[in-house]
Amino acid sequence: LSPESSIPEKFKLYELPFNKKIEGCDLNRSPIDKFKLAVADLCSKAFEEPIEKIYPATELGKKNVDISIAIVRFKKGKPTDLKVWADKVIDNFKPSAYLSSVSTTDNKFLFFQFNKDSFNYHLLRHISLTHEASLANPTDPTAPYGTTLEGNGKHMLIDFSSPNIAKPFHAGHLRSTIIGTVISNLYEANGWKVTRLNYLGDWGTQYGLLSIGFDRYGDEEELLKDPIHHLFQVYVKINNAKAEQKERLDAGETIPEEDQIHFQAKKVFKDMEDGEPKAIAQWARFRDLSIEKLKGTYEKLNVKFDVYWGESQVSTESMDRATRIVQEKNLTCEDRGALLVDLTKYKMDRAIIRKADGTTIYLTRDLGGLHDKYEKYKFDKHIYVVQAAQSLHFNQLFKTAELMGEPYADKLQHISFGLVRGMSTRKGTVVFLEDMIEEATETMHEQMKSNEAKYAQVENPLETSAVIGTTAVKIQDMAGKRINDYDFDIKRCTSFEGDFGPFIQYSHVRLCSVQRKNPNVPIPNSINEINISLLNETKINDILYQLALYPTIVKNAYQYSEPSQLVTWCFKLSHLVGTAWETVKVTGQEEEIAKARLYFYIQTRIVLANAMKLLSLTPIERM
Ligand code: ARG
Repeated sequence: LSPESSIPEKFKLYELPFNKKIEGCDLNRSPIDKFKLAVADLCSKAFEEPIEKIYPATELGKKNVDISIAIVRFKKGKPTDLKVWADKVIDNFKPSAYLSSVSTTDNKFLFFQFNKDSFNYHLLRHISLTHEASLANPTDPTAPYGTTLEGNGKHMLIDFSSPNIAKPFHAGHLRSTIIGTVISNLYEANGWKVTRLNYLGDWGTQYGLLSIGFDRYGDEEELLKDPIHHLFQVYVKINNAKAEQKERLDAGETIPEEDQIHFQAKKVFKDMEDGEPKAIAQWARFRDLSIEKLKGTYEKLNVKFDVYWGESQVSTESMDRATRIVQEKNLTCEDRGALLVDLTKYKMDRAIIRKADGTTIYLTRDLGGLHDKYEKYKFDKHIYVVQAAQSLHFNQLFKTAELMGEPYADKLQHISFGLVRGMSTRKGTVVFLEDMIEEATETMHEQMKSNEAKYAQVENPLETSAVIGTTAVKIQDMAGKRINDYDFDIKRCTSFEGDFGPFIQYSHVRLCSVQRKNPNVPIPNSINEINISLLNETKINDILYQLALYPTIVKNAYQYSEPSQLVTWCFKLSHLVGTAWETVKVTGQEEEIAKARLYFYIQTRIVLANAMKLLSLTPIERM
């Protein structure tokens, strides 16, 4: 950051004692932490308690005070006994560039107020300097305001989205895609190196079935046009044919084994597992074409992967190795020829790792895959973003890795999430990602068209509705805690009224328009070109306080892998912007005031845009 020498004398902050690492305190990255530490410093001296014990007790934003401290957390006694401690702080208090006042109502709590001008100065200065730094280093995810270097040197591998070839992209995949992307962004924003891995469901008996189906019903042209839809159609047809055959068999009809679809599919899959070139070649084509198509669709959602991997890519050696180790460690039992890991002791049931015919299964592949991935990436952490319905699977996987004594067993995390109710599109209840995006775009487009005057001003209405439409779907998904279920409702979530995605975009647009609408107001180049004391309205201070909280929000969202924390913050900020907008105007003000306010709105826009980008949204400038 730029030299401290440019800071006016009255805002110079005295040195704070910061020789120990204090959990959650980042003076270089979060200006509000300096002010918290100043409070902790005063109380530490008065209470004769170490500063690192006081710091976590500083509470932000309670009852219109900037920071409060509960004396009762450190001192015992009746309020009359506590008075000596409160007095000690109050009597020794001198206003500084950090704090302007301290008070108490009942001797149980101390209430501190910031030196507002100084606080606002340091906050805005920090936001604009980090913004400059991130413009200069656009590829550094730790440059923007709100980021940290906590994960520096560590590598996080994340498995998310992970749909199945020839099957619809269901709501579980949608949520995994959205949440997984944001968790990846959050880790990167906290200094981690992140590898995004798409673990395709591309292996198993069903791909033997698909192959038979394609020989019967496949169409080259259709396949090239839209591999995902076509393979799904083929899959449905062959599945129906198989079911119909089964009915006939059940009714007593005899069909020679080689004509039974079920057996044919098993045989093809066996060929695939044995690496038989013809079987592999066809399957590889299906896979490659599907990936190409997926990539294009993901792009529309600002989603990208570093690696397309999948169940098919897990090495035979690793699966054999895992099978051998669990047997050597006496963790297995047998049932009708199949080999199982017995986890009943841990209330995790028994889990098949080899089928009776020796072929592998989901768990075998995840287990072998772990070894392969660890060898390749040497991750410090591996996250799987998969619906809660698979919790047992991941518990079994992680427990087995632990019992096997794998070195990465304590680096694994399953980030789960709840169900989506009622996801369907105009085309039906079977949902493809592509159709869902299309429908969100169309619905958004209709919403926008309903305001003709505004619509006429939008330069690229379809592109804009695609951005706002996908914003709507993402925000609907992340607004609640991820473990909660929600009802998918495209109409509702694309609404401009209420706490939905479009509202956040709209706030960003408003903030952008301040600058556009006031071309005659000179844009200050630095904080030193504005008179900070002109930013004294309550509405401005409320917004600045939210901006100051932003790094804490990012940290919480990151620590708990909980994007909803960021979404809630975006809504809060958007509401504050909505009310300030009406009264704290730039237009028609005296130049000094106009300049200060313009500067303030610009910094607000920057922070909102940072948050939106972490949420994988594209902030738009006009709508
Ligand atoms: N393809 C799986 C499904 O659709 C999800 C895969 C999740 N990742 C994993 N490593 N098991 O259910």
